[in-house]
Amino acid sequence: MPAAIVLLAAGSGSRVGAGINKILLPLGGSTVLGHSLSTALSVPDVARFVLVVRAGEQDEVAEAVVPLLGDHEVAVVAGGETRHASEWQALQVLAADIEGGAIDVVTIHDAARPLAEAQLYSATIAAAREHGGAIPAAPLGHLLTRALAPVAGGAGGAGDVGDVGDGGGQALVGVQTPQSFRAVDLLAAYRVAAAEGTEFTDTAGCLERYGRVRIAAVPSTRANLKVTFPEDVALAEALG
Ligand code: CTP
Ligand code: MG
Repeated sequence: MPAAIVLLAAGSGSRVGAGINKILLPLGGSTVLGHSLSTALSVPDVARFVLVVRAGEQDEVAEAVVPLLGDHEVAVVAGGETRHASEWQALQVLAADIEGGAIDVVTIHDAARPLAEAQLYSATIAAAREHGGAIPAAPLGHLLTRALAPVAGGAGGAGDVGDVGDGGGQALVGVQTPQSFRAVDLLAAYRVAAAEGTEFTDTAGCLERYGRVRIAAVPSTRANLKVTFPEDVALAEALG
């Protein structure tokens, strides 16, 4: 059964401070969003694509992405005030397909991570089929323990830094996107969150709270960076 991919682009990019949403910034002849979308469209065995955009930015986004679509159909949906709310908008668009059994896994990706590779998507999709959920994790080094406190509750975005101690509290990993989950479990968890009025900074956080789902870590690297601060744009250009 095929998967669905959700691209989250409905933030404002306030920390980059570019005056426009960071996902519309130029990158390698396209835009940050253009890179993310082109890669997402190249992932095999994906039946549905949902692009979540900021209300009022539909025109700019269309200009950036229409030339990249080819034969693909991408549903565009207006996002919410928070990343979680934007995810919920996308899941409601996919709900009928999830309940009808047309898609078995949903992958959620921050469009602000333009360098995520198709292989990483596929690896998390396969691991989600096997385990229930899968998140990419990249080592941040071993000597940085308490100096780099987790930024949970920050301005949002899938866990910028997560401490998933290995028992000795030494292993710091950055949790990234794309994150993939069995579609029925993801939808169920977000329904409970909506009913309870609870929000989570990252998709896996919601599943950990409301789903009985094992979440596997898929190895990634720091090259899958999230454009968060001004200097990240040049870094993405250099790495991409
Ligand atoms: N996002 C979203 N809807 C929101 C907030 C964020 O779809 N209401 C998306 C962003 O577009 C981004 C991803 O979630 O691709 C990760 O969020 P983050 O890096 O925090 O982006 P912004 O919220 O746009 O940036 P900032 O926090 O600096 O304002
Ligand atoms: Mg944010």
